[in-house]
Amino acid sequence: RQHIISIKEFEKKDIDALLDRAEAIDQGDYDPKALEDKILGVLFFEPSTRTRMSFEAAMARLGGASIDMGGVEASSVVKGETLADTIRVVSGYADAIVLRHPREGAAQLASEFASVPVLNAGDGAGQHPSQTLIDLYTIRQAMPLEGIDVGLLGDLRYGRTAHSLAYALTQYDVTIHTLAPEGLEMPPNVVEELRERGVEIVVHDEIGEFTRALDVMYVTRIQRERFPDSASYYAVASSYRVTPELLAEARERMIVLHPLPRVDEIDPRVDALPHAKYFQQARNGVPIRMALLLEVMG
Ligand code: CP
Repeated sequence: RQHIISIKEFEKKDIDALLDRAEAIDQGDYDPKALEDKILGVLFFEPSTRTRMSFEAAMARLGGASIDMGGVEASSVVKGETLADTIRVVSGYADAIVLRHPREGAAQLASEFASVPVLNAGDGAGQHPSQTLIDLYTIRQAMPLEGIDVGLLGDLRYGRTAHSLAYALTQYDVTIHTLAPEGLEMPPNVVEELRERGVEIVVHDEIGEFTRALDVMYVTRIQRERFPDSASYYAVASSYRVTPELLAEARERMIVLHPLPRVDEIDPRVDALPHAKYFQQARNGVPIRMALLLEVMG
């Protein structure tokens, strides 16, 4: 595989193979020198903690090195350098590039100018394929990825993690449930494409009923940075909150996931409940990204 741009490129057998590989890595089955002569170019045009640091940790665990552009402010992007030129240049320094960018389609564009593999670490409201593999891996640690009800809660309009995960779930025997604040529902074209792929989507408007229907609750943040102004953000901010009282109604095996960071959509008291798997999910970023780096550079 050359580039990793969208989860839509992956067939079920590809996803399962990557999850199996990550599981083996998690159990210590990997060569710590597998990428010892390789360099990863880290180009993040938006802030990140988990994706950037777990890609760098994954590279280090495999014996490789990372070179970080240092964000927009520290780079020649502030002088007006284009994404295409930046990618062309970094292709000469690195063996693969991991890119986060606020513009949907940026990773695809970058892949057209790169002479090394490009891994999409999130492109605007588009896709976040490595996060999706982490999400699937974390679900699979708790229950089989078949015959389950997965609920997507929150910003389903701009939330790239929710879009990516929903596309991946169409490969499995899963019912998708959605609950979003008004105006942040999943875009109609996304819903249509998901349904064309054969998945059942149940749209909810009440959080108790939504919670009771689920094996997996995937909570997302309302992303202030995607709103045109603060008034439209505050109109929907804090419109839902997952609490221990709400989860008292949930199925015993139900797990709560969140790509993080959270703001106030999950009460910190939930962290101590057996349902809470979001910190384990963040930790799973390293074995999944090790599997992906081996896929493109190993
Ligand atoms: N889940 C995720 O993408 O987190 P970061 O924005 O911190 O990378």
